[in-house]
Amino acid sequence: MTPAPVRPAESPYRSYVYAYPHKTAYRPLPERPVLRELWGGEPQHALSLYLHVPFCEVRCGFCNLFTRIGSPDGLTTAYLDALDRQATAVREALDSDARFALAAFGGGTPTYLTAAELERLCDIAEQRMGADLRAVPLSVEASPATATADRLEVLADRGTTRLSLGVQTFVDREARSAVRPQKRAEVEAALGRIRAAGFPVLNIDLIYGIDGQTQASWLHSLDAALAWQPEELYLYPLYVRPLTGLARRGELESQADWDARRLALYRSGRDHLLAHGYQQVSMRMFRRAAAAQAGRSEYACQTDGMVGLGCGARSYTSRLHYSFDYAVNATEVRGIIDDYVATEDFHRAEVGRYTTPEEARRRHLVQSLLQAEGMPVAEYRARFGSTPAEDFPAELAAFETRGWLADDPLRLVLSPEGLAHSDLAGPMLFSPEVHRLMAEYEAK
Ligand SMILES: C[S@@+](CC[C@H](N)C(=O)[O-])C[C@H]1O[C@@H](n2cnc3c(N)ncnc32)[C@H](O)[C@@H]1O
Ligand code: SF4
Repeated sequence: MTPAPVRPAESPYRSYVYAYPHKTAYRPLPERPVLRELWGGEPQHALSLYLHVPFCEVRCGFCNLFTRIGSPDGLTTAYLDALDRQATAVREALDSDARFALAAFGGGTPTYLTAAELERLCDIAEQRMGADLRAVPLSVEASPATATADRLEVLADRGTTRLSLGVQTFVDREARSAVRPQKRAEVEAALGRIRAAGFPVLNIDLIYGIDGQTQASWLHSLDAALAWQPEELYLYPLYVRPLTGLARRGELESQADWDARRLALYRSGRDHLLAHGYQQVSMRMFRRAAAAQAGRSEYACQTDGMVGLGCGARSYTSRLHYSFDYAVNATEVRGIIDDYVATEDFHRAEVGRYTTPEEARRRHLVQSLLQAEGMPVAEYRARFGSTPAEDFPAELAAFETRGWLADDPLRLVLSPEGLAHSDLAGPMLFSPEVHRLMAEYEAK
């Protein structure tokens, strides 16, 4: 086999931009700003609430999310105790009439918690934070093995509108190759329990680009997912990142071949879902056209703040994005969770990045341009008093040259090729400073 190139400059898979800036651009905040001051004067009538549960039964080979395997000696109880303390401190920092419009439990695997612990998690969101979980969209992530009937019953009863199941593949051989110990029978049983629990929206996560995955086996997984008529589907290109299980396995095909295979799988997956009545929302996300909009969790006003609780959660005010320390390596993750659990004073922000007016424009552009419906130029102008063409001429010229922009006089919209290259287009919109910070971040 020819040696793989180190990293071709033009790989379509540079990074998944789900938030800007990425956590690896955050740094310790030496002044440790007081939350009350950070949140003072912020709009708080439609906040988002995110609770992070950093536990899993296994560590999948591809995963670099902030999570650990197992929870020795009552660690989940201690973690919920810390969440409770943090929620109390954060609520004190918010206005008395602050309101939440959206809630999500993510991970890791929130359903790693027992049914009783999930009740407590909901109590923290409701009683400590004041979120009315039955009145707002509530999205919860689950894995097949932990999506048990008793847990799902609690989640349905407490108002979950969207249950997102990590499936990745319906082919057992591919699950093994992705180092995800999972059998199809177990996935099908979990999907049956989820449908029986009656959540308005079922989302299924699938991954393409796994070793040994072919066009035929990919379509087989898509059809197996479609049989459940999920309201949403997320198709993730496989990333192999430093310090994950797969990163230590060595390369089986050249980077260029792998990129080409992922792009081909993306196109066939997209076309398959479009032909089966799904609409494309972003490169990864597809929504069943006939599905009711109830429980729609994607929409959040660009200017609303986010309150994240838990040691892997990010919070956003208009001036500062902040969180706790971040790591992938198992020992580091355990250390950060142990520190979090031992924390008594949650009144300050520890790690983060302040927003500048230029970064606010970039964030707006990154977050709306990577959506299939694109960005109304008038909306941008109303918010910033300028146009994207005035603010980002070089970036948009590069997109134009590559054929990534669709022809639309009112909106800035990616073409199908632009959307296919979202993970390259997104990072091209980052500021040089954010690129520098991300490059300097030492993976741990
Ligand atoms: C928090 S997990 C989902 C819930 C649950 N922990 C599970 O795995 O079933 C989020 C999703 O991110 C995707 N993901 C994580 N790491 C990835 C990677 N390296 N490449 C592609 N997709 C990845 C997977 O599809 C995964 O389901
Ligand atoms: S993919 Fe899900 S179950 Fe696997 S390690 Fe990551 S968060 Fe945990």
